[in-house]
Amino acid sequence: MYEQDFDILREQVHGHRLVYLDNAATTQKPKVVLDAMTEAYTTWNANIHRGVHHLSQVATQHHEQARQRVADFIGAKSSKEIVFTKGTTDSINMLAFSLGEAMVKEGDEIVVSYMEHHSNIVPWQMLCDRKKAVLKVIPLREDLTLDMEAYKALLTDKTRLVSVAHVSNVLGVINPVKEMIALAHARGILVAVDAAQSVPHLRVDVQDLDCDFLSFSAHKIYGPTGLGVLYGKEEWLDQLPPAEGGGEMIEHVSFDKTTYNTLPYKFEAGTPDFIGSFGLQKALDYVEMAGRDKIEKYEAELTVYLENQLASIPNVIIYAAGQRKAGVVSFNVEHLHPFDVGTLLDQQGVAVRTGHHCAEPLIDKLQVPGTLRASVAMYNTKEDIDALVAALKKAIMMLS
Ligand code: ALA
Repeated sequence: MYEQDFDILREQVHGHRLVYLDNAATTQKPKVVLDAMTEAYTTWNANIHRGVHHLSQVATQHHEQARQRVADFIGAKSSKEIVFTKGTTDSINMLAFSLGEAMVKEGDEIVVSYMEHHSNIVPWQMLCDRKKAVLKVIPLREDLTLDMEAYKALLTDKTRLVSVAHVSNVLGVINPVKEMIALAHARGILVAVDAAQSVPHLRVDVQDLDCDFLSFSAHKIYGPTGLGVLYGKEEWLDQLPPAEGGGEMIEHVSFDKTTYNTLPYKFEAGTPDFIGSFGLQKALDYVEMAGRDKIEKYEAELTVYLENQLASIPNVIIYAAGQRKAGVVSFNVEHLHPFDVGTLLDQQGVAVRTGHHCAEPLIDKLQVPGTLRASVAMYNTKEDIDALVAALKKAIMMLS
């Protein structure tokens, strides 16, 4: 549905209709988002929070409306809990630095899982190096879901934070984050959720999950690149120091003493991406207009269709087969390298991602050089999946 709103989907690649199934890497942008950003640059571009002049006031108003839009979209109590960042990676790095400074000391433990993206591993490793803390890893069961018994055993008096993906960017599986948060909170442990792959597909409500922090990227939900969100409960954000210094994050600066701005501005040093936030606002409006529940149901059906169609091809191996997934299916073809298969798919106009998907520990565990990953968005159709399947069969024939 809605493919008519995305001009790029009418492009040809290598003489074929583009079949875009790399949405977990980035989504395409609807015309309303692109038009809105052009309109912003052509009619009200001016730096925000800095001027009494008309355009600056207009730009500031749009940016703050976008913040409120995001707060409403994820069910935050207040827009003060929404920090604009450069993307999920930036959000997690910012959190790892700030939380590390305020709350982590030598011997403390941080818990992540085996299926994390590098952006939810490396910032915590860096923090552990800095503070002589210890990174603990939740193992996976045979079926590639999180081992919840092992998770419970990992929570100790030393655990400061659990940071876990809501949806795996490789496997597409949906982790039981609500249950994980309740278990952590019962021991007074904070939880951060990497929601980069869930916010675009599922109705995520931070108050319902009761997560302490949550991150996602605009570009994976039909918005612009270079913009993301760090949500944090006000009581925690209040206690954390800023990760970066500069303009706007201060209340008063002197060489004797600098005091910091209120939330969320103390975390937003420098000129923020106020054109991007306008684009994100329009993207979220677009998703609401299409109907979040409708999209969720449609994409869930499409993902099941994708998995079943792939599984019906001889020698195709599906990872986390049969598990409920949010938009993502990873697979391989026995005895074929994923790069070779991916290249032949591309030559037929089909875009999927190949490789380790920035999740090397998980890929090592699968004992493969990488996988092929097809991921859907609201504009994909069964015809797209059929085109992938036909192209895959041809690729297998050519390579065998
Ligand atoms: N994190 C994005 C992906 O999984 C880029 O492809």
